[in-house]
Amino acid sequence: EISSRTEEILSKMTLEEKVGQMTQVTLDVIGEGEDRYSSYEPFNLDEALVKKAVGKYKVGSFLNTANNRALPREKWYSIISKIQEINSEETRLDIPIIYGVDEIHGATYTAGATMFPQQIAQGASRNPQLVQRGAEITAYETRASGIPWNFSPVLDLGLDPRFSRMWESFGEDPYLVSTLGVAMIDGYEGVDNNIGNPEHIASTMKHFLGYHAVTSGKDRTPSYIPESALREYHLPSFKAAVEAGAHTIMVNSGIINGVPVHANYDLLTKLLKEELGFEGLVVTDWADIENLHRRDRIAKNDKEAIKMAINAGVDMSMVPYQYERFVDNLLELVKEGEVETSRIDDAVRRIIKVKLALNLFETPVTNPDDYPKFGSKEFEQASYNMAAEAITLLKNEGNILPLKKNAKVLVTGPNANSMRTLNGAWTYSWQGEKVPEFAQSYNTVLEAVQNEIGKKNVTYVPGVQYVEGGNYYEDEKADFDKAVSAAKKADYILLVVGENTYTEKPGDLNDLYLSDNQTELAQKLAATGKPVILILNEGRPRIISKFEKQVPAIIQAYLPGNYGGDALADIIFGDVNPSGKIPYNYPRYPNALIPYIHKPSEEQTKAEGVYNYEADYNPQFSFGDGLSYTTFKYENMELDKSSIMPNQSLKVKVKVTNTGDRAGKEVVELYTSDQYATQITPDVKRLRRFEKINLEPGESRILEFSLNPEDLFYYNAKGEKVLEAGEFEVQIKDLKQKFELKEK
Ligand code: IFM
Repeated sequence: EISSRTEEILSKMTLEEKVGQMTQVTLDVIGEGEDRYSSYEPFNLDEALVKKAVGKYKVGSFLNTANNRALPREKWYSIISKIQEINSEETRLDIPIIYGVDEIHGATYTAGATMFPQQIAQGASRNPQLVQRGAEITAYETRASGIPWNFSPVLDLGLDPRFSRMWESFGEDPYLVSTLGVAMIDGYEGVDNNIGNPEHIASTMKHFLGYHAVTSGKDRTPSYIPESALREYHLPSFKAAVEAGAHTIMVNSGIINGVPVHANYDLLTKLLKEELGFEGLVVTDWADIENLHRRDRIAKNDKEAIKMAINAGVDMSMVPYQYERFVDNLLELVKEGEVETSRIDDAVRRIIKVKLALNLFETPVTNPDDYPKFGSKEFEQASYNMAAEAITLLKNEGNILPLKKNAKVLVTGPNANSMRTLNGAWTYSWQGEKVPEFAQSYNTVLEAVQNEIGKKNVTYVPGVQYVEGGNYYEDEKADFDKAVSAAKKADYILLVVGENTYTEKPGDLNDLYLSDNQTELAQKLAATGKPVILILNEGRPRIISKFEKQVPAIIQAYLPGNYGGDALADIIFGDVNPSGKIPYNYPRYPNALIPYIHKPSEEQTKAEGVYNYEADYNPQFSFGDGLSYTTFKYENMELDKSSIMPNQSLKVKVKVTNTGDRAGKEVVELYTSDQYATQITPDVKRLRRFEKINLEPGESRILEFSLNPEDLFYYNAKGEKVLEAGEFEVQIKDLKQKFELKEK
């Protein structure tokens, strides 16, 4: 039905109406007053500007929030219904507007909505059910704000800690990112992708393709990705998400192998639309068609840039500001025959289909009154659960944790009393800096610890503080002495360090070490002889090797959201048994950024027993690390066959027992290693399956995984898929067993 309705609508549309549908404008452009780009209060639509955008230029989409801040949902409703109303009055065919926002870890741009841990933390939870539940809640609360389209999830690999957006990914592994990415899409769109359901929204796979793999580690700088790596590592999450039915996709702002992705026909049309069969809508990133001219210098002028991008396969231009120029130029290009009308029709067809699928023609805006569960306790509990399963215990010498509740603690560090740092960016505002009044009702780490053990047992001295409003997000001021003298009076030191909030370009990093001030604070506190529990509240692994040996316990909290402080306190004092697993390799040195997926030569010096071990593969913590307060025994790994044919699957069983004295959750991970591959050096090991289980003390479970030949192929240097007979190894924890893949 959607297809025939789409064709009917398309057949009635003029060229001007079609080009307008391909245009997306930021909300501030239709706001009232000269200071509409910067002012905080109030935001009001300028009806004349709305009329101009939708009536004259026939703009079909808007994005973003007003004044870069969170709005009450009633305000969202009034803004979006007014835009739809004016659109309806001013346009001939009454095609509804589609509104999109970055609600990447909860409905972050709506006041009072439920905030979830950021994706990197969700990756550590290894719990697809919780990821899906969080996305369902986000969909509900986004619709409760009248918004039907979310620019989420990020399906890029979190490979490089220098990159400002590592934390927006689920982690460094393609299988992990694919599994959790699909879970998130299922949550947003529903497993049946029925986005017409008023509790579902359209999701956006982003950023297609290879966005995080920049050579310099800096946002929107060139990547050089061979075809084999593109297909082996970067494509699987997008392929899985396309197969899961995601409705829209956003293009990588960067350049791959010299070609800006927004101008890359091979990637956008041949690979995405033809080979993967993606039928949804392709939207650009922010001003990225203009960037083909202004930044990337592949187009001599804006018009040339539009021609390149639309012909490459872009369907909708996120123009934010100078939309009039985009519309006029594209109209001219079609009239001049530089862009085929069939390309325009293809783009508009995709857009109308998403609008129809969202049921916007019948319900252009959903009403907050229909969403009674908005901000409910049930939703908050889901956010807490995710934080509690994500936070990862990385070191626990002498089982120093959990602490007793009668302990006297010093809480210190720049992240100890900040809601901003728990949430990260894309929270209330782009850089996460505008934390509104209502957000102060959640508990910082300090407040949560005070709630847990009573204020009288807690001393707070920041030691180091971020300078708010500084140009650079890492500006700090330090006062070590007070923290050191307070430390001497405490039984334990809870040192909460990390980063202030950041995303995109402003968050790129020149020095991966934890800041000098924070490192010095850690060293000075450790020198008091009082045990330091190091809590990392960071979006990417900041290097701690200058003092790691001096601290007996380390907890990675990531960016755990509004309930992260509570979950952390529950873990520190033993109410919750930690079960997170780190979703990336944590580097020990800045020149040792080697992911867990690497080639054997990265471990060469160790293997050969020669010189410089420090220069060898030796991460501070490895992908998959994460301790528990109980112990698990792995035994009886069994393969149902010693060899398989290329059309057969292999069953792998393993028995896991909780051998400790408290209940705990364990993530059972199965890896494979191709022993030899003749056309490419195989990776040392690759994650193929994982499952999170809960075991009571003494309880055992036998898990069964099924592997098939699809898990065993590789891509050769030409990017061809190769399934090669030979020996493979299955690895679960320390258990290893070989099997053979036979020739046909
Ligand atoms: O969705 C984002 C994208 O991830 C980065 N640039 C801006 C877009 C829209 O806000």
